[in-house]
Amino acid sequence: MSGRIPREFIDELLVRVDIVDLIDSHVPLKKTGTNYVARCPFHTEKTPSFSVNRSKQFFHCFGCGASGNAISFLMDFSHLDFVEAVEDLATFAGVDVPREPVSHDAGSKKEDLSSLYLVMEQVAAFYAQQLRTSDEGKKAVEYLKNRGVSGDCAANFMLGYAPDDWKALAGRFNQKLLTEAGLLVSKEHGQAYDRFRGRIMFPIRDKRARIIGFGGRVLDDSLPKYLNSPETSLFHKGKEVYGLFELLEKNPKPQRILIVEGYMDVIALAQFGIYYAVATLGTATSQAHLDLLFRFSSELVFCFDGDRAGREAAWRAIASVFPSLKGGRQIRIMLLPQNHDPDSLVREEGLDKFTERVQSAQVLSDFFFEHFSKDLKLSEMEGRSKLRDEVVTHLKQLPIGAFREMMFEKLSGLAKQYILDNEAILAQKKQVKKHQLQTGRLSIPSFVIALLLQNPKFIEIVEQKEIDWDQLEFEGVERFKNILNMIADKKPTNYGMLLEAYRDHADEVIVKKLASFDFMIPDDGTETEFCDALDGMLKQGREAAIAKLQAKADSYGLNIQEQEMLVKMLANK
Ligand code: UTP
Ligand code: MN
Repeated sequence: MSGRIPREFIDELLVRVDIVDLIDSHVPLKKTGTNYVARCPFHTEKTPSFSVNRSKQFFHCFGCGASGNAISFLMDFSHLDFVEAVEDLATFAGVDVPREPVSHDAGSKKEDLSSLYLVMEQVAAFYAQQLRTSDEGKKAVEYLKNRGVSGDCAANFMLGYAPDDWKALAGRFNQKLLTEAGLLVSKEHGQAYDRFRGRIMFPIRDKRARIIGFGGRVLDDSLPKYLNSPETSLFHKGKEVYGLFELLEKNPKPQRILIVEGYMDVIALAQFGIYYAVATLGTATSQAHLDLLFRFSSELVFCFDGDRAGREAAWRAIASVFPSLKGGRQIRIMLLPQNHDPDSLVREEGLDKFTERVQSAQVLSDFFFEHFSKDLKLSEMEGRSKLRDEVVTHLKQLPIGAFREMMFEKLSGLAKQYILDNEAILAQKKQVKKHQLQTGRLSIPSFVIALLLQNPKFIEIVEQKEIDWDQLEFEGVERFKNILNMIADKKPTNYGMLLEAYRDHADEVIVKKLASFDFMIPDDGTETEFCDALDGMLKQGREAAIAKLQAKADSYGLNIQEQEMLVKMLANK
């Protein structure tokens, strides 16, 4: 029985563990100045751009943009989910993870889940035994043999056979559990019958080897060809893939993962030595799928039919993968020859040729721009500007980072000569801003926030100022206030802890970006620098607010409150 991990424990853990020691135990670090550096574990590089900062309790790679605190490092490096990473970190610190007491309800739910897992396990064993020993099962074995599936392979994937019987399961296992596990179909009057009948059964296992659902295929041309488990408390199609457990068993850190469409594709590929394929379960590839798979490999290869429908499916998938494309993650698109699926192709061509196709699959960026330029006449101005509009809409979805920059650069190469129309000017302005961010030329408020994020203790200086926000005007003032509130609320000892409060927060990206600036200010000068910048910001902000009121006075006139405000502000100036 396990409840939530208390928030305070996580905060204490982040204070207790030193991120430099933690990362050094996984990736040996070298000290240079105030930072520790190494070659980045999240992308391939020759010279080190991965740096870990002890006072900020934060890592950052200038090459691929990966960054975060000790928990994020473990999540990314050891492919863990959040809770697993906290547990790992606690082990590193030599402490036990406390759990909040759970209510009776939650406790019994957890128990139900383990009995559901158990019944799934027993049913899978029953199906496997039916395949091997029953007379009916012989037909299924025959079918699999005809399709070239070896006995070893069938055993690895725990293939089975569901007898052509309405009550094969119902007579053997607990009916309530079977129903909750999605193995029975209920009729009225509390009656129920087996969902899977006369089908070859494919157990779907999660990464911890637990059976969470089944797929079942008919032995002939009848319909539906495949039947899948419905959504249950164990099985969520949109989050799971077929073959992940079997893949990780072969290799926990595959160089790449191939995403195919069908159960039989995964099995045929494995039999031919391609152990790194998984299938989505009759649904489109979701972001949850990608987040899951990127935890095990930094390169995903999408495999699609080469026909028009396949290209369209590829295109739909791409639109949904964009938001997951952080630094160091790579996606390739592999289109198959007409009338082939991976199963038929690997059987026809064999391992080497198929592997060659995988390795030469087109990278996402090329596929993306090719898709756009194909129908648009690039020689005509209209074509180019339409291209840019559409492309920009997609590119905006990309998370900030190296890949996004590269895609924008590629776009500006394609649409270069037309930079003079309004939209392009806007884009250029944004570019300038981005450039400022990159080179460290920040606006004063951004500089103040960046220093504050890096030194959360400066919040006291800000609080002493008793700032009247109504009298200030600068870009991003709302975000500024929000970040201040967060710091005032959390009172984090270092940036790594603050970052924990921003996990999955709307401002996470900007906060990380600002915090990763290195202003090259010596430690003992930081506070003075901060106070000067803060004063400068307040002065500028007040002047801008005054100017805004005066401009309004000149054009529309001011109401009474505004007039009073202006007088007050001029007096304070
Ligand atoms: P396909 O129709 O491409 O089948 O479905 P396949 O994988 O090539 O199957 P074989 O080779 O004829 O055995 C691809 C996937 O779509 C889902 C299944 O997950 C299947 O593996 N599907 C297909 C269904 O869920 N139901 C169906 O009726 C058909
Ligand atoms: Mn097929």
